[in-house]
Amino acid sequence: MLKNLTPQPPDKIIQMIGQFKADTRTDKVDLGVGVYKDAQGKTPVMRAVKAAEARLLESQDSKSYVGLLGDLGFVDVMRDLVLGDAVPAGHVVGAQAPGGTGAIHQLLLLTRLANPEATVWFSDPTWPNHPAIVKHLGLTGRTYRYFDEATCGVDFDGLMSDLSGVKSGDVVILHGCCHNPTGANLTLDQWAQVTDLLIEKDATPFVDFAYQGFGDGLEEDAAGVRAMAAKVPQLLIAASCSKNFGLYRDRVGVALVVTSDADALELTKGALASLNRLTFSFPPDHGAKVVEIILKDPALKADWMAEVEEMRLRMLDLRRDFAQALREQTNSDAFDFVAEHRGMFSRLGITPEQVLKVREEHGIYIVGDSRINVAGLPAEKLDMLAKAIAAA
Ligand code: LMR
Repeated sequence: MLKNLTPQPPDKIIQMIGQFKADTRTDKVDLGVGVYKDAQGKTPVMRAVKAAEARLLESQDSKSYVGLLGDLGFVDVMRDLVLGDAVPAGHVVGAQAPGGTGAIHQLLLLTRLANPEATVWFSDPTWPNHPAIVKHLGLTGRTYRYFDEATCGVDFDGLMSDLSGVKSGDVVILHGCCHNPTGANLTLDQWAQVTDLLIEKDATPFVDFAYQGFGDGLEEDAAGVRAMAAKVPQLLIAASCSKNFGLYRDRVGVALVVTSDADALELTKGALASLNRLTFSFPPDHGAKVVEIILKDPALKADWMAEVEEMRLRMLDLRRDFAQALREQTNSDAFDFVAEHRGMFSRLGITPEQVLKVREEHGIYIVGDSRINVAGLPAEKLDMLAKAIAAA
């Protein structure tokens, strides 16, 4: 049987982790996978996480199962973090999932269960796992225009024109903030226009919310999804704690579904529990419990918020300084958009050949579509990096 297997296409981002590790050059620079790094190049365990883990170690007296939907206390605090008071708490059901990817997977399973004929739309470009999971689950995927290569901003006319082709029952994936890979984001006015269009088309928005707090702030980053939640008849949200809690390997995420239809809500809750059971039974508890402890404790929450803000401001400084270095090295304002973009990523707009050239000649690892992880930029090497990119 196993001989029937064919090689599976590698995920380009994950593949790069191995390629970077295997590179023996000591001055190599990793701008690949989206993992936050501090000024020392380390991905730290956040202060509040360490404190909450210590508390959990002391207080936890059982490792027995929690529930198919996971820890509902965690689901509640995540609902509040993501949605604030945009909708009544009783209009939201949720299921804990292993990471943001797990939440996306479960919500796409829910989509397939509810409407196997749905076309799932995603931005061009998007995070490669969106189309990959849609395809893997046998759903139909389709892209909508998103990025304007000339301005390195959002191609909003293209987006609206493509989404006018959405059919009743379709699902449209949007990035809640900090678009991955481009770093170009919708304005609040554009969120409102997309909301109205999807209501008119009877389509369901699906917000992938993996970087809350890394763009303009925890509240500011949620403004688009909150305004949408208050207006649409139904909304799917996959939120991740990998980045803003630094819990990458502990796999902490939540699938939230918003609707004012009480019957639909009850059916959704049952379906999410069943889909968890069929996929992995019970979601992993440790990281979710840590998040719950932090968000329920005012002092820990304040410290966590302060650290997220430090991380966000560090990325903004790096954006400003790197844009300046590129300006000096290229004698142009062609890369000024790096300072305007928000979140962990920007797409530089250089060709795959140029990406390869800077990797081979300088040991600078950039994803093939020219996406850089801003948090990976070493502050003391910005001129060297800008020079290498300018030369390529
Ligand atoms: C990324 O885009 O680099 C991150 O979201 C990590 C991943 O799983 O791809």
